Parts: sequence; structure tokens; C-alpha cells
Amino acid sequence: MNVLVSGGAGYVGSHAARMLANAGHEVWAYDNLVFGHRGAVAPGRLIEGDLLDRPKLEAALKAHKIDAVMHFAAFAYVGESVTDPGKYYHNNVVGTLSLMDAMRAVGVRRIVFSSTCATYGEPESVPIRESQAQNPINPYGYTKLVIERALADYAKAYKWGYAALRYFNASGASADGDLGEDHDPETHLIPLVLQVALGQREHITIFGDKLPTPDGTCIRDYIHVDDLASAHISALERLEPGTEFKCNLGTGQGTSVKEVVDACRRITGHAIPAVIAGPRAGDPPALVADASLARRELGWTPRFTSIAPIVESAWRWHQKHPNGYGD
Ligand code: UFG
Repeated sequence: MNVLVSGGAGYVGSHAARMLANAGHEVWAYDNLVFGHRGAVAPGRLIEGDLLDRPKLEAALKAHKIDAVMHFAAFAYVGESVTDPGKYYHNNVVGTLSLMDAMRAVGVRRIVFSSTCATYGEPESVPIRESQAQNPINPYGYTKLVIERALADYAKAYKWGYAALRYFNASGASADGDLGEDHDPETHLIPLVLQVALGQREHITIFGDKLPTPDGTCIRDYIHVDDLASAHISALERLEPGTEFKCNLGTGQGTSVKEVVDACRRITGHAIPAVIAGPRAGDPPALVADASLARRELGWTPRFTSIAPIVESAWRWHQKHPNGYGD
């Protein structure tokens, strides 16, 4: 297939683009490089453009005879979405509608969309099943939920085939250490902890150690970025016009913040001092996927099921690229 990967220069998008190309697809990354990195895209495969640039999107879809879109491009800082919701609704909702309408204009009817477990808000119960109510507790989660809804409506009315994949905590890096996580600012736990091991930070701050979890720190479901990528490809290959597919992408395993920090200590051999602070606003104590639907329906199995190999892959990337992509 000819596939346009929006956000293809970003963290998850770049891993998916590379895996798609390795699977024999023709891949074009569409990215405005606000958060993406030129160095994360295969040479000659980057179309530099914004989601809000409809003419450019339509031209790209036409010129490369695109059969399907994988849509990763979005802003994803939960805290910033609370203080500046306009920025999030504009980029994640208006931008995505611009992409969807460009697809309509050109007749592309297949899309795999990056959604998030943040669409559930405070979970009713853990592990979280897809049937749980979606009540986001921040604008970021709402922007993703709005698009899930729009896709369902477009699928029905215009006979699109779509998949909305609700990621839990994307983590890790490609096996060769050439692609990895490089956010500015960085807010995610694993890269922050590894920056301490690299001597770029003095300590990691643990947000809360008196939460209702076995060791008192937050529990998350860390899923390797290449496992996310392979699930996208499985979903893409199953898309048929008029069909919808919504599922969680996680491992079903919970890991606490303390367990992540301990794994980083073992793997890096660095003491990694930790300072305990109060909980971060809006952080649910535990978010773990019921990951059975994706396994059943996509025939997909995550290869990384524990935190150690995830951290090892991230550490390889951080050692090889202590300053990220260097742009
Ligand atoms: N944490 C710390 N110290 C830090 C950073 C994080 O203790 O310096 C903790 C957080 O409290 C949380 C866990 O580590 O319990 C993971 O935090 P991340 O910021 O890495 O990830 P989140 O679970 O907060 O957020 C991720 C994605 C969001 C997405 C969300 C869904 O980054 O985009 O999952 O809940 F919306």
C-alpha cells in the first residue's frame, strides 16, 4: 500500500513508518517538524507540511496515490492541554478534520488513528476494557475522543474503514538504537530517569508514594513503541471500507514508578537518586489495559512484556544519542 504517515517524524510515527517500509509498503512521512525530527525519517521520504494546510495535504495524497493514512500527528502534553486548550483543540481536532476532509476530497478511505487511554479518564475499574465509559479528565483526552467520534460518523456516512488505537504508555526505542524518544520538553518517566543516568539531571522526582497501589507509586502499562507500530500495521491490513475497530494497545502488565526506577538502576548501573514529591494533578493511581481485544482481533502479540527489555532498548538509544536527534 501507499501510506501517508502524519507525524511520521515523531516518536511513535517514525517507528511505524520504518516498520511499514520494512514490510514492503511505500511510505511518506507528513510532518511540520514542530516536534518531529528530520533525522527520524528515511532520506527523501519527508513531506514537510502542516495538518492545517489542506492544499498541501491533498496534493501529497494525490501525488503519491495514497491508499491509507496513519495519523499520529498531535500535541500530547496533558498539562499544557489544561492551561492552553485552544492550542490542543486547534491542532488535534481542527488539524485532524482538515486531514480527514483532504482524504474525502481525494477519495482515501482508510485511516489508523492514534488514540489514547486518556479518553477513559479515571477508570471505573482496572484493567480497563474498551467497553468502559470514556470520560476524559483533560482537554488532550477530549481532543482524541472527539476524533474517535468523528471517525465513527465518517465511517458510517462515507464508508471509511478506520481503527482507533488507544495507547497506554508508549516507551522504549528501536532495537538498533537509531530511533527513539526525543521530546522537548521531556515529561515522560523513562527518558527522564535515563537522563539522570547520563548525568544530565541530578535526580528523578517521584510523583506520589502514598497512592493506593502496592508500593504507593503510580502504576502504568508500558508498551514498547515497536509493539505499537506492529499493531498499527496489523490494523491497517485489516481495514475495509465501512468497518470500524477500536481497541486498547497495552501489554496488560502494570509497572509502578518505583519498579521503573529500579529497572533503570539495574540496567544503567547508575544509582539514580530519587526525590519523593506530591502526586501530579490529574494522574490516576493505576492505568492498565485489558489488552485481550487487540490480541484476539488483530492476531497481534506484544514482544515486550516486561519493563527490563523496554528500558534496555531506551538506554541503547539514549547512550547512542545523548542529545537526541541533535536538531
Ligand atoms: N512520573 C514521575 N516523575 C516524573 C514523570 C512521571 O513520577 O518526573 C510518573 C507519573 O506520575 C506517572 C508515570 O510516571 O505515574 C508515567 O508518567 P508519564 O508522564 O511518562 O506518562 P503518563 O502516564 O502521565 O502519560 C502518558 C502519555 C500521555 C497520555 C497518558 C494517558 O504521556 O500522552 O499516558 O494516560 F495521555
